[in-house]
Amino acid sequence: MKHKPIFTNCKSMLHGGDYNPDQWIQMPEIWNEDMCLMKLAKCNAMSIGIFAWSALEPEEGKFEFGWLDTIMDKLAENNAYAILATPSGSKPAWLSQKYPESCRVNADKTRQPHGARHNHCRTSPAYREKCITINTKLAERYKDHPALIMWHVSNEYNGNDCHCDLCYDAFQKWLKKRYNNDIDQLNAAYWTSFWSHTFPDWDYIEPTDSSIHGLMLDWKRFKTAQTIDFFKAESTPLRQITPHIPITTNFMTQSDTLDYWAFSRAVDVVSWDSYPRWHETESDSLEATRIAFHHDICRTMKDGKPWMLMESVPSIPTRGCIKKVKEPGMHLLSSIQAIAHGSDTVQYFQWRKSRGGTEKFHGAVVDHVGHENTRVFKEVSEVGNVLSKLDSVVGSCINTEVALIFDWENEWAINLGASVYLGKNTKYREECLQHYTPFWEKGIPMDVIAQTCDLTQYKLIIAPMVYMLRPGFADRLKDYIKAGGTAVMTYWSAVVDKSDLCFLGGIPGNDLKEVFGVWEEETQAYFPNEKISVKSNEKNSLGIKGQYDAIDICSIIHTDNAEVLCTYNDDFFAGQPAMIANNYGQGKAYYQACRMQPDFHSTFYNALIDSLNINQVIKTDLPEGVTAQLRTNDEQNFIFLMNFSKDEQAIFLPETYEDLLMQKPVSGKVSLPKYGVKILKSSAR
Ligand code: GLA
Ligand code: ZN
Repeated sequence: MKHKPIFTNCKSMLHGGDYNPDQWIQMPEIWNEDMCLMKLAKCNAMSIGIFAWSALEPEEGKFEFGWLDTIMDKLAENNAYAILATPSGSKPAWLSQKYPESCRVNADKTRQPHGARHNHCRTSPAYREKCITINTKLAERYKDHPALIMWHVSNEYNGNDCHCDLCYDAFQKWLKKRYNNDIDQLNAAYWTSFWSHTFPDWDYIEPTDSSIHGLMLDWKRFKTAQTIDFFKAESTPLRQITPHIPITTNFMTQSDTLDYWAFSRAVDVVSWDSYPRWHETESDSLEATRIAFHHDICRTMKDGKPWMLMESVPSIPTRGCIKKVKEPGMHLLSSIQAIAHGSDTVQYFQWRKSRGGTEKFHGAVVDHVGHENTRVFKEVSEVGNVLSKLDSVVGSCINTEVALIFDWENEWAINLGASVYLGKNTKYREECLQHYTPFWEKGIPMDVIAQTCDLTQYKLIIAPMVYMLRPGFADRLKDYIKAGGTAVMTYWSAVVDKSDLCFLGGIPGNDLKEVFGVWEEETQAYFPNEKISVKSNEKNSLGIKGQYDAIDICSIIHTDNAEVLCTYNDDFFAGQPAMIANNYGQGKAYYQACRMQPDFHSTFYNALIDSLNINQVIKTDLPEGVTAQLRTNDEQNFIFLMNFSKDEQAIFLPETYEDLLMQKPVSGKVSLPKYGVKILKSSAR
């Protein structure tokens, strides 16, 4: 894969964060302090103006750019860049008052009052117009400014509801297009004969009946489409006036309200806001896999092009109940983790703590104390120092042999439909993570892809709970396996089509029964204290040995010709297959009938990794909590060794590398302290 830097004019990693100088207009001495502190922390990029609309346009049509001119100039003098935001994330009071249609409407038809943020109606023409005006002014004013490196459009768009008439009207139009102006097609897709829900005409359709899963699925699709449409509308002046400046908007991939696969096609660069819960969950390494998974999605969304860590917190965010500060070392480790998975930036929320408002205690580089002599500031400066040594990593890519399928539309369908059946045990993302973790533990980079992505480049495709099939996916999976690919699919896959209509003829539908050699007849959920034992069959082709427990969900499956790798040991279906392998064409299709636990996944995937010759970043056993990830450009490989465990860990390096930070050769046994990081370099062969 080629070298793909995000920026043509900047050869360094970006380091900085959300900076709100508009909160300090009355105290310009703070601005000067900020500039000195940024230098000290080696910060070279600030996201500015995100919530500054009332400072930029205090009255309708009255613009005040003086303060922003000063800040832009100061950044440029400081050799720092501005990731300039458009302010649509939060409305000024005059706008809500004069154009009430810009405020969202609740399901009970009451309009939301002015205030809070991220709550504009995505359809309102007046709001769009006001955004376009202010964005045009910003683009015209700063188009040639040396500090301007990127547009940060709005902030964390979300898919929350707006039930206003404008949105309903737009939804009905969107449906007309989707169903070719044919209400019968829509009724068929929604199976509205159920409970007498047939829609006589388009204007009867309101997205309020959660018993019609197809309708609710379309409402979610519409909200994504309308958000993208809004994003495109407010980006129009930026595209026209500054075609050379890349555009992003910060995603929240951990949220399920928008389909980011769709959204990613509209941005130039993917960026996301990552808030791990270090020291607050079962283990930091488990948390690390969760975050790595999302980092990998962000990279894969743009075909491996580097992405941006747009927000992260230097200490603690104001969320969750029990808040732990980052222990020493964790800040560098967490920042380098993003780089290791393909980010070319480490940005924070926030640069300086505000004096008031709900985020006044939210972690920041600069505390209320105001000086640099804090632990957090020092750790941030250390990150700045390390990033300043990583110019050669900028633009480098990640080659992967394995991909896991994760899809928001599928998640919506699962949460709407499957959860009715599986209840609290549905846990789609947890199931995906179970299949991701063994690769992270072995130091094998992985892509996390959508059903719509190309499959042919991978040695192994893992498809957990692919409940809803997107059009064409089953055929592409079939072709991939037929041509020699290997795929793993789990229970509760290929159950419904894109409209949430069940496939007739049994699960998995759409010809996948033949491909996987399976028919899934019944599925049931289990209580938290229940376990179903699964035992490996003697002489199975993967060499899986021993007995394992399944939890949460088990399906009863049948096979005619596939090899049975494991069978159930418990319940009335004891002796029936729990895991099978089917030869199909030149390839192999594995089907897992129940929710297995980490011990099984690591045995199963280790066997598969061996049989498929999938490469580890370093051919060595990694201790618990340690992973290795690899970025590469045309000339060099960069290996990121990271220890998320609470103990010092020893790793054996089978070859000699250059320690990029220490600038000396390393080989043999190396030690990583608790939360330690090493970046190793070798030539790309
Ligand atoms: C989000 C927002 C920021 C800030 C942080 C706090 O990511 O984009 O403006 O509110 O959360 O964690
Ligand atoms: Zn609306």
